[in-house]
Amino acid sequence: MVLQPKSPMESQTEMTVRMFPSDANPAGNVFGGEILKQIDLIAGLVSQRHARTNAVTASIDRVNFLKPVYVGNALILNARLNYVHRSSMEIEIKVEAEDLMTGTRTLTNTAYVTSVALGPDGKTSEVPQLLIETEEDRKRFAEGERRMLQRLKERGKN
Ligand SMILES: CC(C)(COP(=O)(O)OP(=O)(O)OC[C@H]1O[C@@H](n2cnc3c(N)ncnc32)[C@H](O)[C@@H]1OP(=O)(O)O)[C@@H](O)C(=O)NCCC(=O)NCCS
Repeated sequence: MVLQPKSPMESQTEMTVRMFPSDANPAGNVFGGEILKQIDLIAGLVSQRHARTNAVTASIDRVNFLKPVYVGNALILNARLNYVHRSSMEIEIKVEAEDLMTGTRTLTNTAYVTSVALGPDGKTSEVPQLLIETEEDRKRFAEGERRMLQRLKERGKN
């Protein structure tokens, strides 16, 4: 079956989640693991929207926690595909915390997640190639390819 290339815009996702006291660490700020969970979750949405098959997280690159997120904040995640190979997809995620009283938004995290598509047989399966429409898409694709080669080198497969 020939898969039609798809634009990164087709799978781009924004998600807003309110942070509750149950999301806090003992110091009272939002637990880093909760933010990682939301990053993993949105990456899964983007990759499955693109592949329209099951997709699993293969790796998460180093995630920096730039600023604290407070209980009561809205966590706003924006995610899009940068790069696609045969079955693997690089998703870039930007996380902001919004103070709902003032509307101020602070960039709190950025991350790159690699998802891998699996077919019904549980084996890795081919995904649609990315339709490169803009200069920005081209730049993201080239940078994503460079990072993917580095990941595979670190994994010892290249
Ligand atoms: C991810 C997984 C399917 C890869 O399987 P594998 O047998 O190692 O697959 P391969 O070596 O044939 O690689 C398949 C693809 O994954 C990519 N890949 C595998 N491991 C990777 C990693 N750590 N980082 C980035 N890409 C990776 C390969 O580059 C390849 O991409 P391509 O098809 O686009 O060229 C497998 O390791 C797995 O099932 N891991 C567990 C996933 C999981 O449980 N995640 C948490 C819950 S969602």
